[in-house]
Amino acid sequence: MTTQKSFIKNFWQEKKMVGAMSPSSKFLAQKMLKNVDFKKAKVIVELGPGTGVFTKKILQKMAPDAKLLVFELNTDFYNLLNAEIQDKRMILIHDSAEKITEYLHKNDLLNADYVISSLPLANFPAKLQETILKESYSILKNAGKYIQFQYSLLSKKHLEKQFQTVHISFTPINFPPAFVYTCVKEK
Ligand SMILES: C[S@@+](CC[C@H](N)C(=O)[O-])C[C@H]1O[C@@H](n2cnc3c(N)ncnc32)[C@H](O)[C@@H]1O
Repeated sequence: MTTQKSFIKNFWQEKKMVGAMSPSSKFLAQKMLKNVDFKKAKVIVELGPGTGVFTKKILQKMAPDAKLLVFELNTDFYNLLNAEIQDKRMILIHDSAEKITEYLHKNDLLNADYVISSLPLANFPAKLQETILKESYSILKNAGKYIQFQYSLLSKKHLEKQFQTVHISFTPINFPPAFVYTCVKEK
């Protein structure tokens, strides 16, 4: 099955979880990763990779000794990524994004430089959004960044509640057009 077909099938089966009808564009990928310092990053966490548009770009740019922890809850996407990507730096996890701390520790990692998230946050209950954002905040290093795209500004209040600094930019060249939130942990 092509990645586009896999996306459409999973969108219709699990609309709220998948949250999009097609993979993100390369323009959105560029925007999401523009503020990542790949030379310095030792640990990156990706939430909701889908068919791996961002995952593959991150692995291309990441340092040889860095680690990428990837959380995908959907079984089809997890199996697709597992079959398609063989890279010792990637730890692919078939579980929910709420469990970041548990899996970091299981893999002998303390904290992360970046969390790159495509989760359809606005589709989640408020409590789940808050738990995921709290988890992300707590595992980020000081000055670490949480970078998230969304199709609306509905989750802005949750992001602003958790992070001291939130920058928002807009990418019209994506279907649907998307907002990119860059949130910084400052303690
Ligand atoms: C909008 S899609 C983004 C896919 C891809 N990153 C892209 O931009 O094309 C959201 C992804 O988040 C995944 N997802 C939803 N809830 C999740 C959760 N609680 N933990 C991990 N992944 C989740 C979905 O299965 C889906 O792959």
